[in-house]
Amino acid sequence: MSDKPVINFTRGVPATESFPVEDVIAASKVALEKYGTTILQYGSSYGFLPLREWLAEWQGVSVDQVLTSNGSLQIIEFLCFHFIQPGDVVFTESPSYDRTLTMLRRHGATVVGIPLEADGPNIEALEAALKERAPKFFYLIPDFQNPAGATCSLEKRQKLAELANRHGFWLLEDAPYRPLRFRGKQQPSLYELNPEMTLHMLSFSKLVGPGPRVGILYGPADLLKKVAKIAEDTYITPSLLSHGIVYEFCNSGKLPDQIAKLKALYAPRLQACLDALDKHLPDAETTRPDGGFFLSVTLPEGTSTVQVREQAKAHNLNLADGQAFFPNGGGERFLRLPYCALSPEEINEGISRLAATVKEVRQG
Ligand SMILES: Cc1ncc(COP(=O)(O)O)c(C=O)c1O
Repeated sequence: MSDKPVINFTRGVPATESFPVEDVIAASKVALEKYGTTILQYGSSYGFLPLREWLAEWQGVSVDQVLTSNGSLQIIEFLCFHFIQPGDVVFTESPSYDRTLTMLRRHGATVVGIPLEADGPNIEALEAALKERAPKFFYLIPDFQNPAGATCSLEKRQKLAELANRHGFWLLEDAPYRPLRFRGKQQPSLYELNPEMTLHMLSFSKLVGPGPRVGILYGPADLLKKVAKIAEDTYITPSLLSHGIVYEFCNSGKLPDQIAKLKALYAPRLQACLDALDKHLPDAETTRPDGGFFLSVTLPEGTSTVQVREQAKAHNLNLADGQAFFPNGGGERFLRLPYCALSPEEINEGISRLAATVKEVRQG
């Protein structure tokens, strides 16, 4: 066993040094002074109204098209309650966010994975799957995808928007990483392209911190009314205290600076990851994202990540189970590398350990 410090390429958590602690202390004080009796009380299941108003203006929609919840993952759960009966078909990208896959299965959905390419889902595979059956919804992460790091091209977004109308299915656009673009041009969201058939989710977890648990759902007002009823029957009201704090943080103009700070922190980490992969693992296939938290690596032919994960432990390197991201099997050579919570030095060291591990596994 190595005595080197452990390096974790496992969970996609934000860097603790990114948390705006002082600004959140100030926002908490103001929020309690201004709204104490409201945010310590039960309230609307749609969330704290001033925050919803701020979020509506941010995206240029009306307030009845915004609902806030305790984290965006819980919104996915509400949407499962609304849309899914056991046996219903849902499409996801393959690979996709493993917690969503778990939730879909928990609701009895039949999950059909549409292969993901560097520029979004494979449209031919999608059209072939649609010939069999239209899904209740297609869950996608078009920007800096978790786990692959892929971003959907404009052409594919337009095609998705058109197919949703033609076949009558919803697009569930999960976009927690969208504000974290380090370079390149932002593409329109699916919600901008097809607001009638898209439910757009955002989250403050990767912008301020996961602690306050503030997730956001944008969508048609009549559908949000139904989601608000499910939310009410689940928790009466989300945590208005933390929603009030996040509101004050945003309303005092801190969000743009915070996002700029995150990009300045994370962009060099992404670059360190790409440089280290070019240097240490040049024959692995790597996604080259322009933002977000993750990139992914497909190991050379014949190299199984199960063996690599096991062997990596001897180098004090922890890797996530790549196969868990694949709804219908596959991913035997797939590794997700979350880089945000590691320093450039740790990233270089971690990838050099990964390369040494791959070499050992290949040499048998
Ligand atoms: C794609 C995706 N959706 C949702 C979540 C969960 O976000 P929240 O903390 O808002 O529940 C994550 C967290 O990693 C994620 O990567």
